[in-house]
Amino acid sequence: MSRFLVEGGHRLSGELTVQGAKNSVLPILAATLLNRGVSVLSNCPRLRDVDASVEILRYLGCSVLREGDTLSVDTSGLNRAEISDTLMREMRSSAVFLGALLARCGAAELSYPGGCELGPRPIDLHISGLRALGAAIGEEGGILHCEAPALRGCEIVLSLPSVGATENLMLAACGAEGVTSIVNAAREPEIADLQGFLRACGAKVSGAGTDLVTVEGRAPLHGGAYRIMPDRIAAATYLCAAASAGGAIRLLGAEERQLATVTAVLREAGCVIGGEKGGITCRCGGRLTAVHPIRTAPYPGFPTDAQAVAMAALLRSQGSTVFEENIFTGRYRHVDELIRLGGVIRVSGRVAVVTGVDALHGAKVRSTDLRGGAALCVAALAAEGTSEVQEIQHIDRGYEDLAGQLRALGAQIVREE
Ligand code: EPZ
Repeated sequence: MSRFLVEGGHRLSGELTVQGAKNSVLPILAATLLNRGVSVLSNCPRLRDVDASVEILRYLGCSVLREGDTLSVDTSGLNRAEISDTLMREMRSSAVFLGALLARCGAAELSYPGGCELGPRPIDLHISGLRALGAAIGEEGGILHCEAPALRGCEIVLSLPSVGATENLMLAACGAEGVTSIVNAAREPEIADLQGFLRACGAKVSGAGTDLVTVEGRAPLHGGAYRIMPDRIAAATYLCAAASAGGAIRLLGAEERQLATVTAVLREAGCVIGGEKGGITCRCGGRLTAVHPIRTAPYPGFPTDAQAVAMAALLRSQGSTVFEENIFTGRYRHVDELIRLGGVIRVSGRVAVVTGVDALHGAKVRSTDLRGGAALCVAALAAEGTSEVQEIQHIDRGYEDLAGQLRALGAQIVREE
């Protein structure tokens, strides 16, 4: 399996352009099914998860063409409404195809998305919302059989602001007669990006970014052209890499207000962060200091996707930092691997306490999941000696050429197949 070899101890400097957002392009690729035309998506990152979504679209009969960072999706050839178990297992966020297929075809058949490295990933909120819109959904042997000959708009109250459920219901609501209100909707910036694409296709969607999203269904839809937003979690990752290794970097395309809780933590730790038009600068000199408790929460709270990389950046800080992971139950699998690099971390349930050490040392470590793998790279940049990060296929799911990007900032990291 591929691995990264990282020689620690090199400060970072330079600038890079942040990739397009994984968690925006994935639901938008599903949303292309809502119209029968051609949608042109620019700033699409080259990721395994994007490849998986493209494979699903092609399996459904659509044609997808990549030219550089642009994907052109022609859904006129759509000829099935079922997604194979193999394809569903490749990526759990493919659940969002359910709402799009119900809106386009009035039916869908797909297997329960597999759990993943973060613990159970239920979709009960997706299913109850789709049923409220009139879909008949049965489950047999792990396969969801869905019929929705006539979706009707209604008010749906989410018991928690689920990103995926909000997106799935927005897509299904586009095919429903009448108005749908999604109450307690997720407010992540990626939801606003999805709304932007849907509007470019002629959909009548409003409220994304607030906790009330409204859709006037059955608007005539056409293909749309849209540029995917920058990936705020990738940006957070590179900021944490600079905090870990020290140095001064500039991220082009990142918008600080979309990761204000992350930059607040890095400022408190001692980094100098500038949020200028069209980018973020980060300068980290001496040893970081521990920060107030970091509690992950739905947007605009501290993003769960940045928990691992922030932990990695604080391993050599002065003092102790308390983490509280409130979104996923299994999101500390990177801790044991960070300890192999010399980190001192104690976990109890949702709480992890990081006690800063003077030095980390190179080691062989194994990626357990996407963000955990990125965290190992962030820590390895600061470790004395060479580290080997294995199982990096997890990292390829969400980072476009992580090693190349870090090398462009002066890191000594190479990929070995
Ligand atoms: C999205 O996952 C992101 N993935 C995740 O990013 C991100 O961590 C998460 O939102 C939270 O921000 C994509 O956008 C592709 P949720 P999603 O539904 O939609 C529970 C990454 O690293 N829940 O907001 O699956 C769920 O178990 C990935 O890029 C239910 O109980 O997240 C979790 O505890 C990882 N029932 C919480 O809600 C449901 O029906 C948040 O899940 C749905 C969710």
